[in-house]
Amino acid sequence: MTVDGAGNIRARLEGSDPNAPAVLSGSHIDTVLHGGKYDGAVGTLGAVEAVQSILESGLPRRCPIEVAVFAEEEGSNFGSTLSGSKALVGKYTLADMEKLSNPEGKSMAGLLREGGYAPETMADNLLRPEKIRAMMELHIEQSVVLESRGVPVGIVEAVAGIRVLEIRIKGVPNHAGATPMTLRQDPLAAAARLMGTIEDLAKGSETGSTVGTVGKISCHPNVSNIIPGEVTFTVDIRDVQEAGIEFVAAGIKKEAAALAVSRDVSIDVVHISESAPVRLDGHIAGVTEKCAGRRNFSSMRMNSGAVHDACMFAPLVPTGMIFIPSKGGRSHVPEEFTDPGDIEKGVSLLADVLYELSK
Ligand code: GLV
Ligand code: MN
Ligand code: MN
Repeated sequence: MTVDGAGNIRARLEGSDPNAPAVLSGSHIDTVLHGGKYDGAVGTLGAVEAVQSILESGLPRRCPIEVAVFAEEEGSNFGSTLSGSKALVGKYTLADMEKLSNPEGKSMAGLLREGGYAPETMADNLLRPEKIRAMMELHIEQSVVLESRGVPVGIVEAVAGIRVLEIRIKGVPNHAGATPMTLRQDPLAAAARLMGTIEDLAKGSETGSTVGTVGKISCHPNVSNIIPGEVTFTVDIRDVQEAGIEFVAAGIKKEAAALAVSRDVSIDVVHISESAPVRLDGHIAGVTEKCAGRRNFSSMRMNSGAVHDACMFAPLVPTGMIFIPSKGGRSHVPEEFTDPGDIEKGVSLLADVLYELSK
C-alpha cells in the first residue's frame, strides 16, 4: 500500500504479468459538511470488495488491479473539488497546494505536512498514464433517474463540468431605520437581485442541462437593524456542455456590472475553480453494458451532474463509471441512502468489469 503526498491511498493486487498496465478502481471517503454516508464510500469500499471477490474467484488474470482512495474530493476544506486526484494527475502543483487554504487560513500543503504527508514529493509521484489500462469508479447516482425508472445500473457517458465563482459585493453600511430607501448602497439587496438572475440564467440556458447554485453566503455585519456593508456568496455552475456554463457565467458578469452601477455598490466576480465537462470511454461503457446484461441487470446510459475523481483520469486513460440508485435522489444530506441490494448489484458488476478489463 502507498500513500502519496496529497493523501491518496493506493493498494495493488498483482496479475500474472508484472509489466502489464494496471486496472484502477476507487473513489473518495471524505464527505461534504452535513453530508451522507454513501457518496464516495460506496465506490471505495465497493472497489475493495470487488477486488476481494476477484481474488477469491481464483480466475487467471494478466493485469494488476489497484484500489485507490482519493483525498479531499468534496472541496469541503479548501473550496475546490477533486484536490487529491488533481494532485495525482499534476493539475495541482505544490504551489497550488500552498495557496489553497481552509476557512482558518491553513494551507492544504501545511495541513498535509501536519498530518505526516510530504506534498513536495507529489511532483515525482504523478500518475503515469502508460501504467494504467483503465479506471473504473462506482458511485451513487445522487439523482432520481435510476430510481424513477426502476433501473438498477447507470452507465455514465459524460460528467458535467463545474465552475465555482465567488461574488464579492461592497456597499455602505448604515442605519436600517434612518437611511431612506433612495439613499442606500445595500450589497445584500444587490446580491438578492443577482441570485434571482442566476436562477433565471440556468433555467434559460439552451443546453437544457445547466444548473446554477448559490450555496454559501456571508453578510457583514449580519445584524437586523444595520444595512450590511459587505456580502459574499458562491456560485456553482454545472453542465455537461461547456456552452451552458459559459452562458451563465457571462450572464452573471453582465448583470453584476449593471447592478454595480444601478445600486452604487462594487461587485467583483472572482473565479475560484473549474473542471471541464468530461466524456467517459465508449469501449468501457460497452464492456459494462455487456457485463450487466450477463447478470440480467437492466442498465441505461446517462450523464452525471456531480463531479467525480474519474473526471481527472478520463483525459489520460480509458475511464468508466457505474451509477447505482439514490433513494429519492437525495445526496449531500444525511438522508442520503442506497439500498444494500443495489450496492450488491453495483459491486458485482464492478468486479465483472474489473476482471474483464484485467484479463
Ligand atoms: C462533489 O460531489 C460535487 O459534485 O460537488
Ligand atoms: Mn462523490
Ligand atoms: Mn459529493
